[in-house]
Amino acid sequence: MRIDIFCLFPEMLVSPFEQSVIKRAKDKGIVEVSAHNIRDYTHDKHHTVDDYPYGGGAGMVLKPEPIFEAVEAVKQQLNVNNVPIILLTPAGRLFNQQIAQELARHSHLMLICGHYEGIDERVHEHLATDEISIGDYVLTGGELAAIVVIDAVARLIPGVLGSEMSLTSDSHVDGLLEYPQYTKPQAYRGWAVPSILLSGNHHEIACWKRRQAILSTVKRRRDLIEKANLNQEEKKWIFENSLNLK
Ligand code: ADE
Repeated sequence: MRIDIFCLFPEMLVSPFEQSVIKRAKDKGIVEVSAHNIRDYTHDKHHTVDDYPYGGGAGMVLKPEPIFEAVEAVKQQLNVNNVPIILLTPAGRLFNQQIAQELARHSHLMLICGHYEGIDERVHEHLATDEISIGDYVLTGGELAAIVVIDAVARLIPGVLGSEMSLTSDSHVDGLLEYPQYTKPQAYRGWAVPSILLSGNHHEIACWKRRQAILSTVKRRRDLIEKANLNQEEKKWIFENSLNLK
């Protein structure tokens, strides 16, 4: 997958992709990340990227021309036409695991990061094909949001994580949080690992993990349960235990 990011502070995007899993994916040639500075696509002496809002109001607004020109130049250079162009904005659809999976199916993505107060509406309307928010809060810019989206998407691309198996048990994959995990030592400060996990009974262990995932979700994120992928028996189990599960 190739990812082009258009932003004002490309240096912010260097370090996160030079470590760990994403770095290995880049080294293997599975993921290619390229950051472009919107300021390089200005034509005036001061390299102006923003201006006062029409109609008045606080702060500055990012001008449309450098953003359109940056995206169009890279599209032309790469000879591509139908790439999703995602604007990172607090007004976008709320990012989640399902959207990460959807984006991971593309071979190329373009991300536009706003900064300061806002971005000219014509970028929303006539350039972006999608708008994503990483949460109901306002960041100083879209760069951090782009890092979050890229990280969540890249790890879903086949070959990026060591074990594809670990993806299927991730939190949020089937709408549930992940079950509790344990490693050595078997007892730590008197806290023992649940004995079922040491039993070697794979069927029993799989059932335990599923119940624990449901339990964890009910306890921590009851809002997720409504939409989770549960069978009739599991729904009945939650209903019957609903008082104990609080
Ligand atoms: N830019 C500023 N805040 C943001 C958010 N919550 N999500 C995505 N981009 C943003």
